[in-house]
Amino acid sequence: MYLLKPFLVILMLSTFTGTADGYYDYIKQQCFYSTSDYSDMVYLASYSFNKVVDTQFNSSVGKFVGYTEQGLIFAENFNKDQAYLHQLKAQVDTFCRHNARIWDSAVRDKAVLPEVTIKSVRQAEGRHPAVLLCSAYEFYPKKIKMSWLRDGKEVTSDVTSTMEMADGDWYYQIHSHLEYTPKSGEKIQCLVEHASLTQPLTKDWNPHISESDRNKFAIGASGLVLGIIIAIAGLIYYKKKSTGRILVPN
Ligand SMILES: *[C@@H]1O[C@H](CO)[C@@H](O)[C@H](O)[C@H]1NC(C)=O
Repeated sequence: MYLLKPFLVILMLSTFTGTADGYYDYIKQQCFYSTSDYSDMVYLASYSFNKVVDTQFNSSVGKFVGYTEQGLIFAENFNKDQAYLHQLKAQVDTFCRHNARIWDSAVRDKAVLPEVTIKSVRQAEGRHPAVLLCSAYEFYPKKIKMSWLRDGKEVTSDVTSTMEMADGDWYYQIHSHLEYTPKSGEKIQCLVEHASLTQPLTKDWNPHISESDRNKFAIGASGLVLGIIIAIAGLIYYKKKSTGRILVPN
């Protein structure tokens, strides 16, 4: 199993005087990187008192830099200690790259597929008679691209999208509205690009089988069937009655 390697113990001395006041003496270690091969990794150790950074070690500088009167003295002393500087420089590997590999495999490299829905929504007032809503739910990571295609071409006008919204459980959701004037025979699609997908996901809008239309159709069909049954029953009843009557000539 992996264990995170602690190196500098974060020292927090607080002397409480009364209820809320105190002094905080602390060292903050940070790792900065933006590439997946960690080639740009920078290790930063900041020595602070209360909220003021006195001195800082930046691995790409290779020595301490003082920012306050006291910090200048600290920096001068630390910079004389070659063994200490050497140890801190090594932190880029032993602390930053080591831990980044663990965090990234546990979090950053995970991707969860979005659930995409497309539906027609009622609009307040707009320039076009119809509004479609495309939504993507429960995806991770945050970065996503949602766009609209009309007959295969990207639509950019009359599109309004929300930001990626955090659900608070590591997942995100996003929504996009397309305001448009329907044309017969056209094809409208919502396109989603995300780290969890090897190719863009498209969701087609099919105006003929929307949920409410399906329900209306079902009600209509039931009514028709019922009508036919009653008509047949009536016809049978009529036939029975008319054949049952004996015509007597007078
Ligand atoms: C570390 O030092 C380099 C070189 O001066 C600088 O470009 C970089 O911004 C510093 N990094 C941080 C996190 O302060």
